[in-house]
Amino acid sequence: MALIDKHKIIETNATILFALSFFVVTIGGIVEIAPLFYLENTIEDVEGVRPYSPLELEGRNIYIREGCYVCHSQMIRPMRDEVERYGHYSLAAESQYDHPFQWGSKRTGPDLARVGGRYSDDWHVDHLVNPQSVVPESVMPKYGFLLDRMLDGKYIQDVMETNVTVGVPYTDEMIENAMADFVAQADPDSDFDALLERYPGAQVRNFDGEPGISEMDALIAYLQMLGTLVDFSTFEPDASR
Ligand code: HEC
Repeated sequence: MALIDKHKIIETNATILFALSFFVVTIGGIVEIAPLFYLENTIEDVEGVRPYSPLELEGRNIYIREGCYVCHSQMIRPMRDEVERYGHYSLAAESQYDHPFQWGSKRTGPDLARVGGRYSDDWHVDHLVNPQSVVPESVMPKYGFLLDRMLDGKYIQDVMETNVTVGVPYTDEMIENAMADFVAQADPDSDFDALLERYPGAQVRNFDGEPGISEMDALIAYLQMLGTLVDFSTFEPDASR
């Protein structure tokens, strides 16, 4: 019997066909996926990228809660039109500590991957309170209530510990000082040296200009740091990766 005839046995027996197909697909899957668990270098380490500070992390949670990602992406593709509009294309390392990542694909509004530093804090407050006051044709909803919702940072340590379980390298020191750092970053009169040592480049301000730490403070702290960690005047991509 020729080999090709033996193949008929497989083709005419659904159970054997299924079992062997499953076997083949499993091998293919293992070959593709397994190395990713062992490779250290699927993400190029880039200088300046660090985990979010407690205030930024809280702001990021508000960003997710409010569904900003439904209208805004956070990934600049390496195409000329995007790079000219938004700046240097996004690096994998820049969303290294994002759980879940915010790349998105829906752009009802502009990409926000590098919105940090593009506008003043005042502009952000005005825009979030009433987007149409600064961009009359905007379809973005109003988020003024964020000004009235105060944060006490009660869960910030839990949030950081949760991030640790998925691989974000928050140290014990960072978690211990989470509350202090959270408060210090929103108060320009605080003693924020230790905060800056733990989170280089963190911006310390009263972001919404009102007393107390509101959700508006946290959200603007997050928006203002987006895309600012890597210094692209000195960054050189590693072409070997
Ligand atoms: C219904 C869609 C929609 C949602 C939801 C939305 N936006 Fe927008 N956003 C827009 C549109 C459209 C623009 C462009 C017009 C404007 O500036 O208002 C915009 C602009 C912006 C800008 C200015 C970006 C730039 O480069 O000019 C920022 C910052 C921003 N949005 C932040 C947010 C945040 C933070 C949230 C969540 C709290 C949010 N948006 C939710 C549609 C949306």
